[in-house]
Amino acid sequence: MAEKVVVRNLYKVFGPQPAQAMDLLHQGQSKEQIFEKTGMVVGVKDANFTVDEGEIFVLMGLSGSGKSTLIRLLNRLVEPTHGQVLVGGHDVAAMGRKALVALRRKDMAMVFQSFALLPHRTVLDNTAFGLEVAGVGRAQRERRALAVLDQVGLKAFAGKKPAELSGGMQQRVGLARALAVDPSLMLMDEAFSALDPLKRTEMQALLLQLQKDHRRTIVFVSHDLDEAFRIGNRIAIMEGGRIVQIGTPDEILRNPSDAYVRAFFKGVDVRKYLVARDLASADALSVVQPTLDGRSDLVRTSAQLQHGEALQAVVVEAGGRLLGTVTQDSLHRAMASGATSLLGALLTDGAVAAGDLGLHALVAHVVKTPLAVPVVDAAGNYLGVVTQAQLLQRLAANQADDV
Ligand SMILES: Nc1ncnc2c1ncn2[C@@H]1O[C@H](COP(=O)(O)OP(=O)(O)O)[C@@H](O)[C@H]1O
Ligand SMILES: [Mg+2]
Repeated sequence: MAEKVVVRNLYKVFGPQPAQAMDLLHQGQSKEQIFEKTGMVVGVKDANFTVDEGEIFVLMGLSGSGKSTLIRLLNRLVEPTHGQVLVGGHDVAAMGRKALVALRRKDMAMVFQSFALLPHRTVLDNTAFGLEVAGVGRAQRERRALAVLDQVGLKAFAGKKPAELSGGMQQRVGLARALAVDPSLMLMDEAFSALDPLKRTEMQALLLQLQKDHRRTIVFVSHDLDEAFRIGNRIAIMEGGRIVQIGTPDEILRNPSDAYVRAFFKGVDVRKYLVARDLASADALSVVQPTLDGRSDLVRTSAQLQHGEALQAVVVEAGGRLLGTVTQDSLHRAMASGATSLLGALLTDGAVAAGDLGLHALVAHVVKTPLAVPVVDAAGNYLGVVTQAQLLQRLAANQADDV
């Protein structure tokens, strides 16, 4: 996958003599020691990460951990003290003023916690603002603004003033304004944090929906585990200016790097974040593909099951799409009734789970059958299987973490 953002050895020191603070950092002094000695603040310390094209990358951490500083380093609203930021292959630090302004306007729309809407302008004009600044003509920018207002469910409010809208709606205008310029990278700093929990969940769902229709690269700052896990493809956890862990929600859940990360899970039932995809085991069952010689497929698969431990085998098409599963029984029955292909032996009542199926629904699936339940992605491709034993094991492991 193409890398949209590359960050290497990135540092930010706030204060009059950043070079002195950098020296102290290299001598191994901590952020606290440096502050005590010099009054300078280490905002970001040696950040390294990449963000892939089409990914939602979340920066999560407590207040003051450096999230806003780091996201602002990406578009140079904050000047780096040291290190490199590449966006779409361009070195942001080396850019002249003009290129930078163009980059911010076109390629890196930013959405903040405060909506920063212009109070005397209509919702439509606010939405079209970025395009206006970029010199897009009225008819064209209004057409575009209406289209994105439609996407965020506010088309009917185009003629209203911001003050006539609720906080949640105003934030949707803020989002629409960013979307209007069709940025290749969206930077969102606590964009939903000012909203009440219900509105916040609504905005998260909207963002995910928009992401389904049109995949964008998004860097999203949040101090909230729930939000990070809901929307993040990957999450970087920050503490005291450092990134202490980067991973998918599942990787972080399975393997929190330290007590700081674990503390985020306190009082949160992390099981609610697990989906079928996280639990699917790709190598638990053997996978077979029908060949032109269907009879020998049947015989071979039957022999395979006889000699292996598994009761089932998975049948997929050449491209990886799941066709179903077979058992020793179903194979024998098929052969006895003269079937000439694996397709004749597929279990007809076998359950299948979608990759994003939540744990609750998955349990309901799995307890209905003694067999392993195959898990597929949105295109129907086989991802792995979930078995009762595996599911119980996993639930028990997470329970042990809680105490
Ligand atoms: N302009 C600034 N001048 C001095 N210190 C700053 C400035 N901006 C942020 N900081 C400090 O940098 C650290 C990280 O802040 P910030 O990036 O805003 O954290 P977060 O967004 O995670 O709450 C904090 O200690 C903060 O006080
Ligand atoms: Mg912040």
